[in-house]
Amino acid sequence: MIKMILDLDTGIDDAMALAYALGSKEIDLMGVTGTFGNVYTDVGVQNVLNILNMCNANEIPVYAGESHAITKDNFIRLEVSARIHGENGVGQVEIETSPKEKETKSGVDFLIESVKKYGKELVIVTTGPITNLTLALQKAPEIKDMIGKIVIMGGALTVPGNCNAYTEANISQDPEAAKYLFESGLDVTMVGLDVTQRSILTKAHTQSWRETGSLAGRTYADMVDYYISQHDAAIKGCYLHDPSAVINAVHPEYFTMLPMHMTVTTEGEAEGRTIGDPARLRDSNPNVKVCIGVDSPALVNNLNETLLSLFKD
Ligand code: BDR
Ligand code: CA
Repeated sequence: MIKMILDLDTGIDDAMALAYALGSKEIDLMGVTGTFGNVYTDVGVQNVLNILNMCNANEIPVYAGESHAITKDNFIRLEVSARIHGENGVGQVEIETSPKEKETKSGVDFLIESVKKYGKELVIVTTGPITNLTLALQKAPEIKDMIGKIVIMGGALTVPGNCNAYTEANISQDPEAAKYLFESGLDVTMVGLDVTQRSILTKAHTQSWRETGSLAGRTYADMVDYYISQHDAAIKGCYLHDPSAVINAVHPEYFTMLPMHMTVTTEGEAEGRTIGDPARLRDSNPNVKVCIGVDSPALVNNLNETLLSLFKD
């Protein structure tokens, strides 16, 4: 079993990543930390609580993390996100409010404590801006030597961004945080648009979730149908950004990964661009594995089977 913490800005594809972690027999979900991005942090945290309650998983603790980027007090993409994910982050679908509340401890402190407790056994998957994790590393630098694997959904190396030609949404929200993590020397896997836009989930999949008859199956089908409706019709489905990051942690064999020293442009027109670090081109032991290929049929099938098993329970 993989001990995992998810750091989410929930968000419809974040919600799919959460469902995968709940449904996977290989993941032991230790907790969820919430960040800003698709929605304000508190909205995303409440979405997670409500989904956990719907999926009978109230034992999983949920912590609120930061509400804005490390060096900027801004929130730049809310209008775009409100269109793609709905204003409530879950496609305007109503999910019953959980009786459970978030924990009082901050998400950043929970990350620090968990690394100290589980060390290299722990896998941290971020599917929003990388603010919480970077702040944890800055607040408690001693965890750097203890931390295990980190998988991030974010960035784009071989394809253009989805905010503009350079920038992917999660990195765009906090470029400094991503730069800090990339240059930290830690074991980071970057699951970016290079692979997430190659794997498509369709309405045939969501219909099979609906047909389980369960509340979770029907709710997820409605949420993801909304998400699909916000994609270009030619795609005939939706991209699998955040689920791909969680799946990478369990099934790295689905991915082709390129070891690189990565950095992030933090100024000018290309702010938020994820790119090879020119200052470390000749350095050995690159620490970031950039996903540049994926066995999409295997990934989509694995996601669908795992979600169906959760919805049938
Ligand atoms: C990323 O941006 C968010 O809107 C999604 O949830 C995903 O994490 C894709 O660029
Ligand atoms: Ca996300």
